Amino acid sequence: MGFVQRTKTCGELRAAHAGQQVSLNGWAHKVRDLGGVVFIDLRDRNGIVQLTLDPANLPNLSQIRPESCLSVTGAVKVRADETKNPKMATGDVEVIVTSYSILGAAKPLPFPLSDEEQMDSVNEELRIKYRYLDLRRPVMHRRMAVRAAALRRIRAFLETQDFLEVETPIITKSTPEGARDYLVPYRLEAGLWYALPQSPQQYKQMLMVAGIDRYYQIAKCFRDESSRADRQPEFTQLDMEMSFVTQEDILNLTESLLTNVVNGLIDEFQLDKEKIEPFERITYDQALYLYGCDKPDLRFGLQLFDLTSTVAGTEFGVFKATIESGGVIRGVRYPGGSNLSRKEVGVVEEFCKELGAKGMASFYVEAPAADAPADAFVSSKGLAVRGGISKFFTHEELEAILEKAQAEAGDLLCFIADHYAAANSVLYRLRLEIGNRCGLRDPRKLKYGWVLDFPLVEWDAESGRWSPSHHPFTAPKDEDLIYLDTDPGRIRADCYDIVLNGVEVASGSIRIHRTDVQARIFTLLGIDEKTQQERFGHMLEAFSFGAPPHGGIAPGIDRLVMALTDTENIREVIAFPKTGSGYDPLMDAPSTIDAQQWAELGLRQTK
Ligand code: AMO
Ligand code: AMP
Repeated sequence: MGFVQRTKTCGELRAAHAGQQVSLNGWAHKVRDLGGVVFIDLRDRNGIVQLTLDPANLPNLSQIRPESCLSVTGAVKVRADETKNPKMATGDVEVIVTSYSILGAAKPLPFPLSDEEQMDSVNEELRIKYRYLDLRRPVMHRRMAVRAAALRRIRAFLETQDFLEVETPIITKSTPEGARDYLVPYRLEAGLWYALPQSPQQYKQMLMVAGIDRYYQIAKCFRDESSRADRQPEFTQLDMEMSFVTQEDILNLTESLLTNVVNGLIDEFQLDKEKIEPFERITYDQALYLYGCDKPDLRFGLQLFDLTSTVAGTEFGVFKATIESGGVIRGVRYPGGSNLSRKEVGVVEEFCKELGAKGMASFYVEAPAADAPADAFVSSKGLAVRGGISKFFTHEELEAILEKAQAEAGDLLCFIADHYAAANSVLYRLRLEIGNRCGLRDPRKLKYGWVLDFPLVEWDAESGRWSPSHHPFTAPKDEDLIYLDTDPGRIRADCYDIVLNGVEVASGSIRIHRTDVQARIFTLLGIDEKTQQERFGHMLEAFSFGAPPHGGIAPGIDRLVMALTDTENIREVIAFPKTGSGYDPLMDAPSTIDAQQWAELGLRQTK
């Protein structure tokens, strides 16, 4: 099966190659048959170049369908000025083909590949079913290239920091990261199961006990949970762990790593992004208070304000009743919102109600009207108020509200009265919505931040017990251990997240390395001693053989690449992703197994 091998790549041809005889191997990106002449855009990994083929000299050109794989030989020629294409890197030249062969013919395509703009209308499951075609698109190649370069840069950086890359098992035992496990039956003894790791958490901690004091791995993790735009059942972490370190050491190293990798990629791929800056730091409590969530988008301000004490004496019924029942009055500015009509404000209120709010109260903040009555309210900063609930407040209250809200002329002030958590969960999303509407979520900015001091545990009303905010190996802060028996919800952990533009992109913690503390935390989490031994006996035992203090972190690789490539969906940065329901339409997985496999595994289908 001989063929003429390429002497050049498609993307490298320039006017300087004029007159040269070249052979190219690639795919027919676009085929235009003008009768007297056939133009083909030939594409390989490096780019696209225009071929000109003369049907009078070359046989069977009509057989070349788009996406056929070709070998062509011909001469590079500079195009006439009027036919040059400044949008193509190779747009100054064409190749006048003298011979060609079809290396692999292509059937009619399930969807066109040559027109990026049309891709939006292509059903995504179809794209994944024909992923090998979808991946041919230059934009997909570029995403894969950014991903590969990210991994290359991560490895290069961690080598300079004396990290050792260690692979840990995929077929292993259940690892508690909060999701459901993927299970694999054990053939030699019915009733026994492996689990795929939700993360290499326990192995990396045991590597610390083994003295590998700086470990990393580009680790596949498996979690049987419903997919979302930024969540896949199988994804990749940069998993890291270090011994003899403080939280500060881990934060500094991770920040240097990400700054080095991201800024390097911005240069390498000439990404339309601002270089990243030192990470902002904020505690979990501050994040909830200022942004209503533990993963704030730090690209813009519009911090939430709290009026609970400011309007404590108000006669406005909704606020009064909420405060009396222990709730809070919190709000957010909407710059430019004073231009909204009452109907448009109604749409904003509806948005809040769909998020579970009972209502959204508001009023406009403006410069005083020329014809305002003499006794109308004007704040010390020269601001007036109009409409909504403004009439319910005294001048003193209005002054205090505007001050708390840091209001400016042109604002709509939006208020939610509810319990702290409920008000936050609405205002968190309302702030993002306002950020979108005001164009404050600049895609050119990558705003990284640390969220620190997470609570160790959260009350899970459904199961009626404490559950770990991170995972059960997270170390409580020494000074908070006193609350272990009395008020576990108050214990903060040496636990930290990285947020990027409102998405959690990494999580880590200092770990427990003492058997007694680990056992107490398991007990707090409602894991009885027998279960502790069955599930985590190996960890408790490992800690009894001279375990070093240690901690680590795991940035998600997929989310890192998403941010760099401006992709909204994690599937766009994974070569072979699953659909929303966890299905792989390309391989048709999951799929049935045959009767012999059932029998060998000692399994029986019951429904
Ligand atoms: P955690 O569960 O928070 O921590 O995960 C760390 C990071 O992994 C990424 N990530 C995901 N990415 C895509 N799809 C998913 N389903 C998914 N789940 C998580 C996120 C997240 O921030 N063992 C700990 C880490 C540690 O403590 O060192 C862990 O797995 O970017
Ligand atoms: P009402 O007294 O129910 O007519 O409400 C007066 C205003 O307060 C309306 O704009 C309601 O949308 C708003 N409102 C009602 N409940 C809440 C709430 N929990 N938080 C904020 N605003 C509310």
